[in-house]
Amino acid sequence: MLLVLFAAEGVTILAVRQLLTLHFFLGMLLIGPVLLKASATIYRFVRYYVGAPDYRRKGPPALPLRLLGPFVLLTSLAVIGTGVMLGYAGSNLGLWPFAHKAAFVLWFAVMTIHVLAYAWRLPRMIAGDLRGSAGHRAREVLAGRRARWLLLTASVLTGVLLGGLTFHQAGAWLGSHIVGG
Ligand code: HEM
Repeated sequence: MLLVLFAAEGVTILAVRQLLTLHFFLGMLLIGPVLLKASATIYRFVRYYVGAPDYRRKGPPALPLRLLGPFVLLTSLAVIGTGVMLGYAGSNLGLWPFAHKAAFVLWFAVMTIHVLAYAWRLPRMIAGDLRGSAGHRAREVLAGRRARWLLLTASVLTGVLLGGLTFHQAGAWLGSHIVGG
């Protein structure tokens, strides 16, 4: 879900002025799934360090990815956070355009490594999850299927609601920042 939404957001960057309404909508939508992903990651982190048996058995991610993890989280929150600030900055933009672009560059570098490291696992996990008849190993990894789908749906619906309530701000933004200026 995050891959698809971020890829779509990436397309809007290619012509951000023309596609600003979509850029706003997708950016706001992303808040729901990104917060869910952040919460799930922090939950795994805490369960591992308090010694929950399942989480100890699964073990932590590989060391380089474990070190990269906080940067994945922080740059994702930064690119969305600076986007919201920029969107609502009014006529005095200050450093927000720079901050938003800088956050994007850092996010892109970190996320490229993160995605390349994990994407190869996705097809098998998604196929196993959709079939619902996953084998032993997949069942271990894909536990809590019902709760996961419910949370994912709730996060997307929350994002759609946020996007729906705020995307009109794109018009106000363009209005206060003359195109080409
Ligand atoms: C709530 C979320 C977001 C809002 C409200 C938002 C808003 C904006 C605004 C107002 C601009 C300036 C457009 C202009 O200069 O005409 C912008 C540019 C940009 N945004 Fe976002 N954004 C959000 C999320 C994101 C995300 C998630 C990414 C990427 C992962 C992103 C990447 C960029 C980039 C790279 C630019 C610069 C494009 C350019 O100048 O060529 N934004 N955004």
